[in-house]
Amino acid sequence: MATEHTLSIIKPDATRRNLTGRINAKFEAAGLRIVAQKRLRLTQAQAEAFYAVHRERPFFGGLVSFMTSGPVVAQVLEGEDAVAKNREIMGATDPKKADAGTIRAEFAKDIEANSVHGSDAADTAAQEISFFFAGIEITG
Ligand code: RTP
Ligand code: MG
Repeated sequence: MATEHTLSIIKPDATRRNLTGRINAKFEAAGLRIVAQKRLRLTQAQAEAFYAVHRERPFFGGLVSFMTSGPVVAQVLEGEDAVAKNREIMGATDPKKADAGTIRAEFAKDIEANSVHGSDAADTAAQEISFFFAGIEITG
């Protein structure tokens, strides 16, 4: 298996509750390395662009207003099979269905305020990383 990079976002429900360190500890304990990280507040236009794939979905408006409701922490995670491994560490989108020990099982409030985002494939990971980071910001 190859070393990969994936884009993670710690969402506003988690930054609001001061959970950044506890979430990062889960990534590190599972063998993922945080090789870039920044805290920022998304504008409405930025959140709409990031989630453009979901623009026809009924939850799109709520998702954009949630993602702009407070700061997020965007990060690049590096490791063996990082895209799939991060999805495992995150748990299912709906925290009621997330496996015990996952970030969403432990910290998420509901299916929308679910504490973290993670890229779902290698190609979307590359696109999402370049949405937030310049190559020079990723230290490896
Ligand atoms: P993410 O993209 O944030 O990593 O989450 P995901 O792949 O597990 O879920 P996805 O289907 O891509 O949905 C993106 C985000 O939209 C919100 N959502 N709300 N109210 C709803 O039914 C609903 N469904 C999805 C969640 O914040 C989800 O993470
Ligand atoms: Mg997704």
